[in-house]
Amino acid sequence: MNKAEASLKGRDILDLASLTLKERELILETAGKMKDILNRDMKKEPLLRGKSIITLFYEASTRTRTSFELAGKYLGADVVNIAVASSSVSKGESLRDTLYTLQAMKTDAIIMRHPVEGAADYAAKALDAVVINAGDGQRAHPTQALLDLFTIKRHKKNFSDLKIAILGDIRHSRVARSNIVGFREFGAEVRIAGPRPLIPAEIEKLGVVVCDRIEDAIAEADVIYVLRIQLERQKVGFFPTTREYSRIFGLKERHLKLAKPDVLVMHPGPVNRGLEISPDVMYGDKSLIEEQVENGVAVRMAILYLTLTDGEHLEFAN
Ligand code: CP
Repeated sequence: MNKAEASLKGRDILDLASLTLKERELILETAGKMKDILNRDMKKEPLLRGKSIITLFYEASTRTRTSFELAGKYLGADVVNIAVASSSVSKGESLRDTLYTLQAMKTDAIIMRHPVEGAADYAAKALDAVVINAGDGQRAHPTQALLDLFTIKRHKKNFSDLKIAILGDIRHSRVARSNIVGFREFGAEVRIAGPRPLIPAEIEKLGVVVCDRIEDAIAEADVIYVLRIQLERQKVGFFPTTREYSRIFGLKERHLKLAKPDVLVMHPGPVNRGLEISPDVMYGDKSLIEEQVENGVAVRMAILYLTLTDGEHLEFAN
């Protein structure tokens, strides 16, 4: 792709909708080159030498935080992780003051996860540093959506021919919201299924078909994307019991026969194994769950590289 067609230097990555199709394609194309670095014995390519990156997570994370840290380190940046529980946030320091304190230390990028929707947008408006949204409330998780698009594109040729089923806790899922935007804009048909209380009102406006039974959603599907039941947000009882949820909505081996023979199974993690997905499906030959994690590092390397540099050194991996 011609660099002039899509430049991301200095851009905040807040949600998928604010990236043009060309910009998303640039990220995915660059991630392919970053994946080559990941698969080398010597995984260091100092394209971000002299840059400093801070991860600031107000919610728990394994995959997103660690993959951003490794992505920055593989590209030679200095990466500092702030454990919010042991930071001055625990003394009552506000988000604004925390952000300005970090900016005063001359950081080039802040990777932020926060329970409040719009928190990353607030940070982006306040700061000169690049802000990357690593998940805000139930709204958006753009880097997860990009790594999922990247993963599917490595297995399936024509995205616009795909039928993708998203199963489970759509209501609480920022992953679902970002992925629906990404899948639909690349032309895929998207069906969703889950207990009715976990299906947000007016979700059809995003161009998805709502099914009551997972069997209907996954019929002839090319990709089945299972969501984590966010048990920490189920206090009002969105379904009777986890046992009943697993019986009716948990993805099991027998369901895969309803989908296309070469169906791919995905999950953003962490997984409630045996609840939303059975262990044999999770670890089966159709599962891309580990590959999603690997691709998460490549995609985040691409995002850091493209937002923190002018992107003129891509020939390194050819
Ligand atoms: N998929 C995802 O965001 O995982 P983590 O919460 O472990 O970062």
